[in-house]
Amino acid sequence: MIVNEKVKFAVIGAGHIGKRHAEMIMRNEDATLVAITDILPKENLNIDHFNVPYFQSIEELFASGLEFDVVNVCSPNGLHAFHSIQALENRKHIVCEKPMGLSKAECEQVIYKALQMSKQVFCVMQNRYSPPSVWIKDVIENKLLGDIYLVQLNCYWNRDERYYKKNNWKGTADLDGGTLFTQFSHFIDIMFWLFGDIKDIQGKFNDFNHHDLTTFEDSGFVTFDFINGGMGSINYSTSVWNQNLESSITIIGEKGTVKIGGQYMNEVEYCHIKDYSMPILEAANPANDYGTYKGSAANHHYIIQNVIDTLKGRTSATTNALEGLKVVEIIERIYALRNLTKLK
Ligand SMILES: NC(=O)c1ccc[n+]([C@@H]2O[C@H](COP(=O)([O-])OP(=O)(O)OC[C@H]3O[C@@H](n4cnc5c(N)ncnc54)[C@H](O)[C@@H]3O)[C@@H](O)[C@H]2O)c1
Repeated sequence: MIVNEKVKFAVIGAGHIGKRHAEMIMRNEDATLVAITDILPKENLNIDHFNVPYFQSIEELFASGLEFDVVNVCSPNGLHAFHSIQALENRKHIVCEKPMGLSKAECEQVIYKALQMSKQVFCVMQNRYSPPSVWIKDVIENKLLGDIYLVQLNCYWNRDERYYKKNNWKGTADLDGGTLFTQFSHFIDIMFWLFGDIKDIQGKFNDFNHHDLTTFEDSGFVTFDFINGGMGSINYSTSVWNQNLESSITIIGEKGTVKIGGQYMNEVEYCHIKDYSMPILEAANPANDYGTYKGSAANHHYIIQNVIDTLKGRTSATTNALEGLKVVEIIERIYALRNLTKLK
């Protein structure tokens, strides 16, 4: 346990989200940013203002002799497990951006190494901190909706040529893995967090307008049963023209109905529950804004705080490694069906 000292972090991958991790670490008075690592020359990264040592490879970082406790893995998806295992072997705790890996087997290797080295793995699922997520978790845990009949997840975003650039990892099979991993794993995480595991999955997939941009589907309809009862569906697309439409969840239960919508499940649009009045919720934080496109909630400061609080023995990880693995495993089972489909 880290008692009186600040928690020391090093960030791997200084792109969009890596810089956000660095910023949130700098802003936290119980944290110190010790180093940043990427493979690009430093002058291409716009990180001078962090004013910390920079390394152009993870090997140089670990050979540097710098002391730190935590590595924030913010590299492309397909490198997450590899970087996590390297950092664990160097006796660091891990904060891993979503998804934890691109296969269940990779995630198992990370968990095995973490147990062997007695280190923590925190997965980044920051939408869990949004007020509607906190509220609906409480509603479900207290069984206010009774039996769950239907859960419908709709994820309709825009990702076009402004997002998928030539010679970038986004859109590739080995480093990106697919829209469910990169765009919509947050929402699959919320569904799993609320309702648990799924079975009897069926799916239809298509590539409408990303032939020149990605090597995978842009859209899908997926249906399944929940092991705990009820059935569900995920309808998703990145083919929405020009801007994000919504990421919403509709829950139909024995004693009530709820719809949480907005671009990233940030607003309760409908709540009608037997003998229950909806409390007033705090406004959700805005979406991460990347200029030409928008992502999920800007809640990364909560993640850094949770890492510090956990390492100081005050609480436990908001999203632990097993939960990170389950989201990957659910997507892997869905994609096993995609891989049987000939995309148009
Ligand atoms: N939680 C969220 O809301 C959220 C939002 C955006 C991205 N992400 C995740 O964060 C990760 C990064 O996404 P991004 O949008 O910042 O991508 P990005 O392309 O902007 O940044 C990735 C960085 O990693 C660097 N990199 C590549 N290989 C490396 C290596 N071997 N060692 C060190 N650095 C390496 C790249 O040069 C690049 O600077 C992805 O896994 C993505 O899914 C999460």
